[in-house]
Amino acid sequence: MPEDTATTAIRPPSQGANARRVFVKSYGCQMNAYDATRMTDVLAPQGFVETQDVSQADLIILNTCHIREHASEKVFSELGKLRLLKQERAVQGEETMIAVAGCVAQAEGRELLRRQNAIDLVVGPQSYHRLPDLIDRARQTPGVVDTDFPAEDKFDHLTAPAPEKIRERGVSAFVTVQEGCDKFCTFCVVPYTRGAEVSRPVSQIVEEVSRLAQSGVREVSLLGQNVNAYHGEGPDGATWSLGRLAYRLAEIPGIARIRYMTSHPNDLDEELIAAHRDLPAMMPFLHLPVQSGSDRILAAMNRKHTAASYLQLIEKLRAARPDLALSSDFIVGFPGESEADFQATLDLVTQVNFASSYFFKYSARPGTGAATMEDQVAEEVKVERLARLQKLVDDQRRAFNAATVGRTLPVLFEKTGRHPGQIGGKTPYLQAVHCDGPADLIGSIVDVTIIESGPNSLHGRLASEQKEQPG
Ligand code: SAH
Ligand code: SF4
Ligand code: F3S
Repeated sequence: MPEDTATTAIRPPSQGANARRVFVKSYGCQMNAYDATRMTDVLAPQGFVETQDVSQADLIILNTCHIREHASEKVFSELGKLRLLKQERAVQGEETMIAVAGCVAQAEGRELLRRQNAIDLVVGPQSYHRLPDLIDRARQTPGVVDTDFPAEDKFDHLTAPAPEKIRERGVSAFVTVQEGCDKFCTFCVVPYTRGAEVSRPVSQIVEEVSRLAQSGVREVSLLGQNVNAYHGEGPDGATWSLGRLAYRLAEIPGIARIRYMTSHPNDLDEELIAAHRDLPAMMPFLHLPVQSGSDRILAAMNRKHTAASYLQLIEKLRAARPDLALSSDFIVGFPGESEADFQATLDLVTQVNFASSYFFKYSARPGTGAATMEDQVAEEVKVERLARLQKLVDDQRRAFNAATVGRTLPVLFEKTGRHPGQIGGKTPYLQAVHCDGPADLIGSIVDVTIIESGPNSLHGRLASEQKEQPG
């Protein structure tokens, strides 16, 4: 293929007849959701406009997740449907390009093309800045694969979103600050699909957050597979921790709320705890996965922390920020997990009292340490344990939500509600709230008195007229 096919004439991002339409479907974590926006941003100068209607799309990107088995199976069933769509559109003389991105793309690479030949392009998470070139190449010769871990920093090449795009996406934004993971928990594919830990330089993040703030963003969620392992180069040449970064971001005018995910207990250092104590913008909600309450299982998982060290850490965090709400991920049925091990998990959940939690049945991921361990737990045992954990966690979530009834909390309004005249937002503890109010409060932080708590959201009443609160 000639080299020069890689260059495309830059067309303005118009809605005109020449515009090509791109549909992106993301699975998995927030990093993928963030990457999806970066992909559409990098394609905008090529004349691609986003569509929510897959049947209209000239380019379909499946941004995949590889964390659990059924996740990649879902991708193949989705691809089967897209193949038919591609055929139907071809009959009407329309070209459809299918790209697979994300962690399944990274893990499976060329194998994907073998299983589904309707795919034109396979692109790994470290190559998104090259999408325009890759798409051109795939147009000439379908079956392009790029899953390299290039030495260059993709963030240097990813296009900044236009201010109107930022506004369209709302007042709460994701910003990836760190990628990859060096932890190698024995159940997890992420170190293989996302590679080694890399942190973006502080100046790049400050610039991105400032730009978001200038277009009305009030809350940033800092993302990373192991976000609190962040160790980016500071403007002073020193290595900055996530805590130090948080202090800097809190200075950006307009940024009222900072969140971050996902953290590993062993990387939660004093500076980050101090940021929780000192910064009103640091939201009192922390997702801190523990995975299990049994030290034996934690060791087999290669977590390198114990139940006791996790509990100590929670104590320290709560001393710094007494109202800190916590959530966690749990895996049930890890190889070798006995009833006593599982009971230790229930005990830990009871002790911590989480505001919410996510729980998963262990599923073996090929290539990971735990996949070949003996003593795999029977499916029915996993199902039964999951139900018990779910009940405990649900009770805790309901109690946490119910405890906010009668309280007045600052809510960042993000969108109009489901019913006319309603607006919706989040409390500092990441609870969804709806209440009657004018749409012009969107983007403001306003006191709301909580009057009712449902299973997934709270209902409130504006405490007074448009009173801006810090945090
Ligand atoms: N980087 C994050 C999240 C990793 S994936 C962290 O360190 O916590 C999100 C969650 O999926 C994990 O916390 C874990 O609970 C779950 N998970 C990962 N691999 C899994 C597997 N093989 N089986 C079941 N759950 C898994
Ligand atoms: Fe996976 Fe463990 Fe890394 Fe989290 S810390 S991404 S669970 S290997
Ligand atoms: Fe899934 Fe990859 Fe995220 S495996 S959870 S999309 S890092």
